[in-house]
Amino acid sequence: MIPYGKHYIDEDDIQAVVDVLRGGSLTQGPAIEEFENAFSKYVGTKYAVAVSSCTAGLHLAAMAAGMGPEDTLITSPITFVASANAGLYAGGNVAFADIDPTTINMDPAALAASLDSNPTTKVVVPVHFAGLPCEMDTIKSICDRAGAAVIEDAAHALGATYKNGMRVGSCCYSLMTVFSLHPVKIIAAGEGGVITTNDDAIYRRLLRLRSHGINKGNDQFICTDQAFTGLELNPWYYEMQELGYHYRITDIQCALAQSQLAKIDKFLFKRRKIVEFYHDNIYKLNNTISAQPRQQIGQSAHHLFVIRINFSGIGINRSHLMSLLREKHIIAQVHYIPIPMHPYYRLLGNTIDKFPNAQSYYKECLSIPVYFSLDKGDQDYVLDTLSEILK
Ligand SMILES: Cc1ncc(COP(=O)(O)O)c(C=O)c1O
Repeated sequence: MIPYGKHYIDEDDIQAVVDVLRGGSLTQGPAIEEFENAFSKYVGTKYAVAVSSCTAGLHLAAMAAGMGPEDTLITSPITFVASANAGLYAGGNVAFADIDPTTINMDPAALAASLDSNPTTKVVVPVHFAGLPCEMDTIKSICDRAGAAVIEDAAHALGATYKNGMRVGSCCYSLMTVFSLHPVKIIAAGEGGVITTNDDAIYRRLLRLRSHGINKGNDQFICTDQAFTGLELNPWYYEMQELGYHYRITDIQCALAQSQLAKIDKFLFKRRKIVEFYHDNIYKLNNTISAQPRQQIGQSAHHLFVIRINFSGIGINRSHLMSLLREKHIIAQVHYIPIPMHPYYRLLGNTIDKFPNAQSYYKECLSIPVYFSLDKGDQDYVLDTLSEILK
């Protein structure tokens, strides 16, 4: 089978995990901080906090940005539900800003309109769809004017760069950026996520929230009478200072992630090559275009390659196409069902007709395979098979 995405593990990765298993700590040990340091160095930010998933990271980021029951989080309708759910977990509401049909990223003009109609917005979550960075300079200035914090959902975008050449995750346009280490993403840890920030207070809060809300490092104690005997710190003492979660990651996962991070240049290079090949040959596919522009190839991390097929007039629908591909051992996927269309979000009063660009994109999109070990033969096979079916 040729899936739409897949991890790649080599002997160094296996050895890195074995070393942790043979060594001391399985969790709360040194591999976590080592990975966090390597990650923050790579993306160019002051701090990185590794957590159990990107979903957990988005939740903590929304809390750390001060999101509460009176507040709204705005995100794109075309993303995985986790980007929006963070706002609900933090007790607030969620609203959407339609996509730009040429990039599938949040349209800054739609964001400005959504902020006008949602004056309680505290947090905006732009999603770097398929790994292509959003127009962050414009989004940041719109959010600054509205007093909203920016949390980038970079689940797809590890290794991507903005127009200014800085890496996604450097937080040059945001308060925090959140990544995923799920196996279909750019690097894999099994499960896992990373939050990056340049803000000292946010960093310290994230460390507490990741582990039950218990004070960490040199956090001040609230009950000093309990914390000290005379001037001496009581060795057993810790304080839960707010309601946090158990969103920790293990040393096993971080050892794997760090070993994967060491290979990121070659992962990105191969993804880019595959995407270039698809762009060069997409003309062979009847009624089909690439969902994102070729001229931005250099900026994207290429987590996905999405094609848009105009199904009207070619005598086949998407469901049938996907079944035929599966018969030929190719597993395509749809990214994503627009969030306002999910029953839960419909019950909250959302409707898709307010987001016409997301609606038309959803009717046409299909993600075709892109991952490190997809060789030239597989790439030819994917395109030839598609071309044959869409004829
Ligand atoms: C855009 C986006 N955000 C968030 C997530 C959640 O990531 P995780 O599975 O690490 O929680 C995903 C996962 O697919 C995603 O695609």
